[in-house]
Amino acid sequence: MHYFSYKKGKLHAEGVPLTHLAEKYGTPLYVYSLKTIKRHIRAYQDAFKGLSHLLCYAVKANSNLAILKVVAEMGGGADVVSGGELYRALRAGIPAKRIVYAGVGKTDEEIRMGVNRGILMFNVESEQELHRISQIATEMGKTARVSLRVNPDIDPETHPYIATGLRKHKFGIPIDEALQLYRVAMTLPGIEITGVHKHIGSQITSVRPFVDALERVLVLIDELKKEDINIRYLDIGGGLGIQYEDENPPHPRELARGLNRLLKSRDLTLVLEPGRSVVGNAGVLLTRVLYTKPGMDREFIIVDAAMNDLMRPTLYNAYHRIIPVEKKRRRKVIADVVGPICESGDFLARDREMPECRRGELLAVMGAGAYGFSMSSNYNSRPRAAEVLVSGERDFLIRRRETFRDLVRGEMVPDIISEGGEV
Ligand code: LLP
Repeated sequence: MHYFSYKKGKLHAEGVPLTHLAEKYGTPLYVYSLKTIKRHIRAYQDAFKGLSHLLCYAVKANSNLAILKVVAEMGGGADVVSGGELYRALRAGIPAKRIVYAGVGKTDEEIRMGVNRGILMFNVESEQELHRISQIATEMGKTARVSLRVNPDIDPETHPYIATGLRKHKFGIPIDEALQLYRVAMTLPGIEITGVHKHIGSQITSVRPFVDALERVLVLIDELKKEDINIRYLDIGGGLGIQYEDENPPHPRELARGLNRLLKSRDLTLVLEPGRSVVGNAGVLLTRVLYTKPGMDREFIIVDAAMNDLMRPTLYNAYHRIIPVEKKRRRKVIADVVGPICESGDFLARDREMPECRRGELLAVMGAGAYGFSMSSNYNSRPRAAEVLVSGERDFLIRRRETFRDLVRGEMVPDIISEGGEV
């Protein structure tokens, strides 16, 4: 569900025509709908209101400060995976007490930062990391709250690159070894056991894998209880899918219904870490057609957005709907929608039935709000796109377009290069 729709043949973000935004801010341009983001957050909050819960938005999906501020204002927390994300979340005003920190490779500095700020919990991914957190917290004279991220060995039935909860994956601690590691954690100084964490993958389109994984985790929680290890927070990760093409992912309400049955008699606070389902359909990538050319066996629609702006098609062969901003009756062609980058892998769509496009017209790449800008790069020395937030009839620049100067900021040319001596 989102608030991008045609009005009088022109695609709008809420009340603002995308043509207007392209003129005002240029392209490629990320456009987000505030109402959509809020609606999605509220959908989770309403769905889970019968349970004690905390929504920790997955910052990696879209880490713009304005979006994090929306989450903060709505009482949400953050799931972070780096010092940089922790910095962003705190800077947007998300209280440390609502921040959880996952990731297999936390550095000493990052751990120190989390301990110092007093985050809700570290989701620990290995025995070595657990010891390191204990040492650091002890040195600092503090206590770190931790949960162990367990790997429940559940197939989320999604793209192999974004599945995380199978035994072959680098994430978490094998669920069979978790009990033993909790026992170790009990003995360590500077550690307070707070919860259990799991996250099995992303773009999951049925409730089943969530239920299966939860059942396994609850067995562990019961075993822990027998040993007087009390779990207060159950973090079930993120992963709920969205509609890109013809998927039919469950609503948060259906997820809640599936989990409620297992959770209602338990004294646990549920932590949810949705990313994609909050922002995915709340954003589009607006791009202009630079050229069209007939190829040998297909048409090419060459646009000003590229794989550096939206990497998902190249990286995962992901499908994003691409629609013209001005709706008209026209002939259909089979085309590749490609960017200006010098790689054959630089495409936004392949072998796609597209309305015949004209040079200069605007296209909207749908479902680009999650893992769009946040995965963008400067490859081919392309300044990164601007980001705009729309609310009703108003639009706000939330990240200015990068300049050429931004591209070289931080680079240095040592004198030795121009001194001409022998190397
Ligand atoms: N929690 C943890 C520990 C995660 O690793 C992730 C995503 C999430 C929550 C949020 O998952 P979501 O609700 O967004 O599915 N770049 C890929 C997606 C990678 C997801 C990584 N982890 C893509 O563009 O599809």
